[in-house]
Amino acid sequence: MELTKEEQAMLDGKEGYAVRKSMEILVALGEIFGAKSLIDVGSVQVAGVSYHNLGDAGLEFLNELAADGRVRVLTTLNPAGMDLENWQQLGISPEFAEKQNLVIDAFQRMGILVSCTCTPYLIGNLPLYGEHVAWSESSAVTFANSVLGAKTNREGGPSALAAAFVGKTPCYGLHLDENRVPDVHVQLNTELTKLSDWGALGYAIGKKAENKIPYITGVKSADLDELKSFGASLVTYGAKPLFYIRGITPGAELQPQPKAQVTIEQADIKNAYDNINDDVNDIDFVCVGCPHCSIKEIQEIASLIKDKKVASDTELWVATSRTTKQLADKRGYTQIIEAAGGKFACDTCMAVAPLKGRFKALATTSAKGCFYSRQNLMKTKMGSIQECVNAAVSGKWN
Ligand code: F3S
Repeated sequence: MELTKEEQAMLDGKEGYAVRKSMEILVALGEIFGAKSLIDVGSVQVAGVSYHNLGDAGLEFLNELAADGRVRVLTTLNPAGMDLENWQQLGISPEFAEKQNLVIDAFQRMGILVSCTCTPYLIGNLPLYGEHVAWSESSAVTFANSVLGAKTNREGGPSALAAAFVGKTPCYGLHLDENRVPDVHVQLNTELTKLSDWGALGYAIGKKAENKIPYITGVKSADLDELKSFGASLVTYGAKPLFYIRGITPGAELQPQPKAQVTIEQADIKNAYDNINDDVNDIDFVCVGCPHCSIKEIQEIASLIKDKKVASDTELWVATSRTTKQLADKRGYTQIIEAAGGKFACDTCMAVAPLKGRFKALATTSAKGCFYSRQNLMKTKMGSIQECVNAAVSGKWN
């Protein structure tokens, strides 16, 4: 890989330990994937924030970098292992909280915005069409590539952090237009009627278009929440972190329609639900907000749960960014949800919080949330926000 004089100096350690380490990571990655050079990035999203996943070795690595490393571009953080303010209310132990706070402290010293959300595009990290960025977090990467038209590979935590310290990333993969060409045409032959249908669609296409870039036709309309839910599911269940929907996502009309074709029928959507949903009726955990809730989703939860009560043996979590919750506070939605017994889980989510063994059965709107909650040994049910609120109030599914 060709380096400029400045990049070579960084690699030689002229700008300190964190920059040298970062250059080593970026050059190694570039050489593995055949990049010819580094390119500037407009922003970075760093995943790998939960102490649950990092452990002491990860914390030590972060502290070493934080000793002299400062980020050069806008850098936001993925969810942490707990609500940074309200962790006790969510049943997090003081020992875990202490370690998680040390992780956050290290990121803060690096100059990273402690946003702790997987929807950075809702709180000000909003790349422009065609802009190169270095993001980790598969759902955010998919949204950035597909809905915003920005260009990013699916970075890991360390490579994203390295890009933040250098302000650059190796130019390969989805940074190159030739690798952004769709390779399977997906014709949708059925209607999608609720938010969770988009998660089911992501499952169905992910399975049929494994490791491919789908070019989807037959979609009449889509809103932001549907697209963020769809992208999260699509990439979780197998496709590349980029999709095109004709008439909906930017740049779709500029791409050739691939010859290879698959169709999605109502039976495929039903099959997705059958695979995602377990045979369970008693629900002790309801979580909406994977990816993190938008203000519109919180508004809907508030209007559905107003004057009702969450069942005594069930917890309802609304997972969102702290910034979005502040808006919910101002608009009165928080008060309504909390009066009903619901809890806000800011800064965190059901996949990265230490929940293994705590709940038996989850109800959620999210196909991705079901995938990760099964790893936390929960049975899962996926449905609309209305169905999730009903489950929270009755403790039952349907
Ligand atoms: Fe976000 Fe956690 Fe889901 S990071 S996409 S809420 S698994």
